[in-house]
Amino acid sequence: MDSEILQRARTYESQMDQKIREEERPGFHLTPRVGWMNDPNGFCYYGGRYHLFYQYHPYSTHWGPMHWGHAVSRDLLHWSYLPAALAPDADCDREGCFSGCALTLPDGRQELIYTGVSRGGIQAQCVAAGDGRDYEKAADNPILSERDLPPEVSPADFRDPKAWQEADGTYRLLCAAKSRDGGDIMFLLYESRDALHWHFVRTFLRNSELREPIGRMFECPDFFLLDGQYVLLASSQDMEGSARYHSGNGSFCLLGDYDAAAGAFVPRADQSVDAGIDFYAEQTILSPDGRRIMIGWMQNWDTSGIQPEGCRWFGQMSIPRELSLRNGQLCQWPIRELEELRRDPVAYRNAALGREPVELPGILGRRLDLEVDIAGAQGTVTLSLAADEKHHTDLIYRPQESLLTLDRSASGTRRAGADVCSTEVTGREGHLRLRIVLDRFSVEVFVNGGEKALSMTLFSKESADRIRFMANAPAELAVTAWQLR
Ligand code: FRU
Repeated sequence: MDSEILQRARTYESQMDQKIREEERPGFHLTPRVGWMNDPNGFCYYGGRYHLFYQYHPYSTHWGPMHWGHAVSRDLLHWSYLPAALAPDADCDREGCFSGCALTLPDGRQELIYTGVSRGGIQAQCVAAGDGRDYEKAADNPILSERDLPPEVSPADFRDPKAWQEADGTYRLLCAAKSRDGGDIMFLLYESRDALHWHFVRTFLRNSELREPIGRMFECPDFFLLDGQYVLLASSQDMEGSARYHSGNGSFCLLGDYDAAAGAFVPRADQSVDAGIDFYAEQTILSPDGRRIMIGWMQNWDTSGIQPEGCRWFGQMSIPRELSLRNGQLCQWPIRELEELRRDPVAYRNAALGREPVELPGILGRRLDLEVDIAGAQGTVTLSLAADEKHHTDLIYRPQESLLTLDRSASGTRRAGADVCSTEVTGREGHLRLRIVLDRFSVEVFVNGGEKALSMTLFSKESADRIRFMANAPAELAVTAWQLR
């Protein structure tokens, strides 16, 4: 039975989304049906379609009592909304249905495992099961609570369950947690035979044990095998800026060894997931054809208060990305389905760049897939994207410093926020290869076949659609652009 709170959200969203014109949304990035969106939740393949749920506050474009919004897709690019799946309508989640995951139960039902926040801010893990549209919360929620925590852990910071099935059929689940004294953060491992009843196994990983501790609160873990290596992806709050991580909230990747029988993970290497400003709380799935696909919230908590005037939705997901490991590095690349949206290719070879900004006829647009190869750069090369007389978002390559910078400070924002981000890049035999995906209000950059990614939302109007190229020393450019439709 739908509660009144869920029914109200479902009625409200179905009325309001009709008022949002198609052109107000990105072409192929998921946005909330109405109101506010943060983390992707319950990313899965169920009943022949991809399901993506999201942290959702339908009634305003700001964070509020969390619901779960729901959308489905066959290609991860064209999404249809389904009615909101969860609302904060039970004692165990009165203050919000926070992030979580989805599994298919042995009886074929879809199970949502999420963090319920009860009065007083206590966090515990809850489940709901359903048919892919309507869900019933378990009568015995929460299924993991304070009594399932090691004594050192605070029940006020125990969240974001992510579950998977082991080869022997048992289920495992990771949650992010913090110690009562705030001195350490960790992931906790739980186990279950039926995916409904869970028990604590061990502390999976502590921040204090890492070579370089990462931030002040872990959030949204994910754990999987990729190209023969175990990967732990997660986000963290309040990271200190370093050579490898930008400051603030961001995502990281640990590669390591996993002893499944003991549930023990030993990290061997770590890296940032996305060097841009807007990428957080990612989740992955294994697609039916065996690809590990990642999607993240393309926003940043620190700047999420800076919103376009009059917007009726806020927050969007990143482009889904195929993951792989290359030379011990996590690599990511837009899902291959995106190439089916490519239209009207325009290509230039051996274009010589100089100090004067040039536009290349036919290379423009705000829903665009661009492949760029910069050769023999001896000085700074700048690509001004989403440009008009006043606005531009610059991608700046400084080969002498091996640095790639994305700068949106002139993209139309009226507030000083996080506007510039940089990452180390190395040319290969004098070539730097970039793939740039623009979708009305965002830019995502993939470097050298995906060894680095930078994601960022944009503020300017869609009419700022020019692209200008310049270099302060000789450089050669090959570029191909496709409109994405
Ligand atoms: C991450 C996060 C999660 C939490 C959710 C609440 O962005 O803080 O840890 O479950 O958002 O909306």
